[in-house]
Amino acid sequence: MRKLFVLCTAGVVFIPSMLGAETAPQDVVFTEHGAVEESLTGVPGDPENGLKIATTKKKGNCMACHTAKGWEHMPLHGNIGPNLSDVANRHDEAELRGIVVNAKHTFHDTVMPSFYNVDNLIRPGDGFTGKPAKEIKPLLSAQEVEDVVALLKTFKESGSE
Ligand code: HEC
Repeated sequence: MRKLFVLCTAGVVFIPSMLGAETAPQDVVFTEHGAVEESLTGVPGDPENGLKIATTKKKGNCMACHTAKGWEHMPLHGNIGPNLSDVANRHDEAELRGIVVNAKHTFHDTVMPSFYNVDNLIRPGDGFTGKPAKEIKPLLSAQEVEDVVALLKTFKESGSE
């Protein structure tokens, strides 16, 4: 019975991720500098959806701490983190993915939340509500991470803005 339960649980957790060929949060491989070289899904990210995620409070909410090109006029963008307008000049795709997945591998002790991680969570919601996290689910799905990375890759300084 117990075995069956374990099998079922494993099925529920792993089968959907196998179908989507997604890397589960606990299986992500980081380089020693915190970069993640392999796409989490193998599906190219959609920068437009990335923008929605980055600027939606319930999703990435990157805007709470960062500003970027085109975000200046949005309400409530923050300056706790660096301006991202030219971040692709500083980091390549693998580094950007690593930062979004779990910034703590790149910046130790950062306040930036880990968006694709289920261990040792610091969730932005917890700080605001004081309630403990109930579900162990990453803040963003694997494809949402890829979409945000695709957006970040567009943040290259052109010198004209
Ligand atoms: C709670 C605040 C906070 C949130 C929310 C947040 N970040 Fe950050 N982020 C930071 C801080 C602070 C840093 C600087 C790293 C450090 O701590 O030294 C940073 C660094 C970064 C960097 C590296 C910038 C550089 O110039 O090296 C990227 C890229 C980044 N964040 C992207 C994002 C994205 C994308 C999101 C949303 C999915 C996000 N951040 C959400 C606080 C935040």
